[in-house]
Amino acid sequence: MSKVCSARLAISILTTCLKIPMATLHTKCAMGTYPRADHIARTVAQVDWNVQERDYSPVDYTAPVILKQPPWADKMPCDPGFKAAWNTLDGAVDRRSHEGEYTILESLPRNPHGRTGIVGRGLLGRFGPNHAADPVVTRWKRTSDGKKILHEVSKLPVLQFVSILRGDGGGWAIPGGMVDPGEVVSQTLRREFMEEAMNSNDMTDEQKQRAVQQITDLFKKGVDVYRGYVDDPRNTDNAWMETVAQNFHQDEAEGILTELELSAGDDAAAVRWQDVSSELKLYASHADIVNKTVTRLAAHW
Ligand code: BGC
Repeated sequence: MSKVCSARLAISILTTCLKIPMATLHTKCAMGTYPRADHIARTVAQVDWNVQERDYSPVDYTAPVILKQPPWADKMPCDPGFKAAWNTLDGAVDRRSHEGEYTILESLPRNPHGRTGIVGRGLLGRFGPNHAADPVVTRWKRTSDGKKILHEVSKLPVLQFVSILRGDGGGWAIPGGMVDPGEVVSQTLRREFMEEAMNSNDMTDEQKQRAVQQITDLFKKGVDVYRGYVDDPRNTDNAWMETVAQNFHQDEAEGILTELELSAGDDAAAVRWQDVSSELKLYASHADIVNKTVTRLAAHW
């Protein structure tokens, strides 16, 4: 073996042993049955692509709603009209991942966080990253005379955030949603909050204008709390969720979030101010996202 070859071999052994640059592995989308498809079971022995799983035989599943080819979904790969430019802005469709470049295997993207037991797209419209945006709208829990309430054990102030009950049975969640093609994330954050937590779809134009005025200042001051992969139960080996989560916080006792009227709309079945603590059970990775907000604001967890 030449010196160059043996040096290359040594580097490759070293990087394999050090497991560089491994993304953390998902858990929620590597077990159980697929949402809204009880007959589709995931069987994964080794989530990590770097660990061989000789008998890995993922189920091929793309939900009927996606097979109907709605305008927000990619075409089937066998369709002559299917074209995609991976890892780049593909016309108005953003196929870049927040986590860097993903691998293309047999012409399709490979989930960067490991095996899921399913190939195809399941309920997701796009191959590769499907981009969402999540507004974490927070205020301090206060007494009726406006004093911050401290948690009796941690002595830290208790935070409250606007949470919605997902209409798809996924439980309580941040009122986020998908970034439409060509839309910028800041627009998605405000639009989704208005649709799901303020029911703007049922407002008159005048009411909508007033609502936009009300929350515009708050939504100007978003702070990034998370950007990346979401351990979403809909993920497959070829399609996965990513999000940008921003915190919109009212620190003062008086302000828009003291008087804002919440009303569930669009995909949300209910909406409420929810006290934040480590007991929270939320959809997908949403509890982790709320936890990052807690760290940023030094609140009780
Ligand atoms: C939700 C977002 C969520 C994303 C990933 C979307 O359907 O609306 O709130 O972060 O899925 O789980």
